Amino acid sequence: MSNPKKIPFSPPYIDEEVERQVLESLRSGWITTGPKVRALEGEIASLAGLEHALCVNSATSGMMLALHWYGVGPGDEVIIPVYTYVATALVVQHLGATPVMVDIRDDFNINPQKIREAITPKTKAIVPVDFGGWPCDYDAIREIVEEEKGKFQPANDTQEKLGRILLMADAAHSIGAAYKGKPSGSQADLTVFSLHAVKNVTSAEGGAICMNMPEPFDNAEIYATMRLWSLNGQTKDAFTKSQGGSWRYDIVYPGFKINMPDVCAAIALAQIGKYKDELWPERRKIFDLYTSLFENEEWADLPPGKEGNTESSYHLFALRIKPRNSELRDRVIHLAAEDGIALNVHFIPLAELSIFKEKGFKLSDFPMAKDQFEGVITLPIYPQLEEEDCRRIFTTIKQVVTEYQDVAIN
Ligand SMILES: Cc1ncc(COP(=O)(O)O)c(C=O)c1O
Repeated sequence: MSNPKKIPFSPPYIDEEVERQVLESLRSGWITTGPKVRALEGEIASLAGLEHALCVNSATSGMMLALHWYGVGPGDEVIIPVYTYVATALVVQHLGATPVMVDIRDDFNINPQKIREAITPKTKAIVPVDFGGWPCDYDAIREIVEEEKGKFQPANDTQEKLGRILLMADAAHSIGAAYKGKPSGSQADLTVFSLHAVKNVTSAEGGAICMNMPEPFDNAEIYATMRLWSLNGQTKDAFTKSQGGSWRYDIVYPGFKINMPDVCAAIALAQIGKYKDELWPERRKIFDLYTSLFENEEWADLPPGKEGNTESSYHLFALRIKPRNSELRDRVIHLAAEDGIALNVHFIPLAELSIFKEKGFKLSDFPMAKDQFEGVITLPIYPQLEEEDCRRIFTTIKQVVTEYQDVAIN
């Protein structure tokens, strides 16, 4: 028998336009932060319905910069969902603050009621994560932040000016999604997208911070500040200095070195140009096809994709198998891999990772996260995937599940 076609989990989308943009950057004589990054920032801001977005070298560094800008540091608490990638927690820890993990809802996103219970006078920020591209319940979260305003204790001028807990969305998955008709990026005060290689729009590695601070903040000024802090706090970037006669600079803040290079921005610039009209609809098509295949199976729980005018970015298709059974989950993934199909699990909840277990965290304290984790399998979803690939993935999973259930019953 011939080997079945391999179906990778999440290959990058590389077409001629990507190659053209990258070559243009390579041949321009300028490959680090410059005009392509500026152009990409404009595209990302406009996709989010905003004026300003800053590109950096990862969502992780972007989230760290954003929280640092707000003055989050030792003694502070930041509320995050337990069901996320570790970066959400590590950025808080690296600033010397404490990540406070709370449980999620059935849609994998942070449970607003659990946020309310976790707020203390030390809480400086909440980081909702749009899991798989599905937006969190931002109205409910904002309402809680307003109601709990009385507990907030500002520790610097920026915090005084906002007068409440900062909402910083970890939108690593949700570029292009919509919450109640409004684009991802326009809900929280600050929103950070990831442009990592497996994301809907990629620059190989990269991230973008969207600025949406309310009055009386000046988002242009925040952009300029964060940009400066992303480049060592140096008053002139390398591009400006390279223009000749402009060598003198100063360091006015002990910043980070987390800027995005133009040669990376070139990849994302090519992709984002066709994201809303081509790449995103292709993802939705695959998501809808999976939905139509699995919705008739009584053992399958489907992820949310569209409800009213809230719509996912369709970054992941997080299938859950009923009843939850981690042995069956692992078996499906193992046997699919033997058939050349790469399936995945998003995420191992934070409380299940060694660094947090050692601190006494227990998954059993987060019953919804535990339940989701035991049954979840994430399926490939990307524009290059063909209908017959999706049908093969469905058939393979169905076969393993039904055989397993037959053995369990008999
Ligand atoms: C939910 C979430 N947050 C943050 C990140 C970190 O993104 P980056 O790799 O761009 O730092 C990821 C990456 O996969 C993620 O899934």
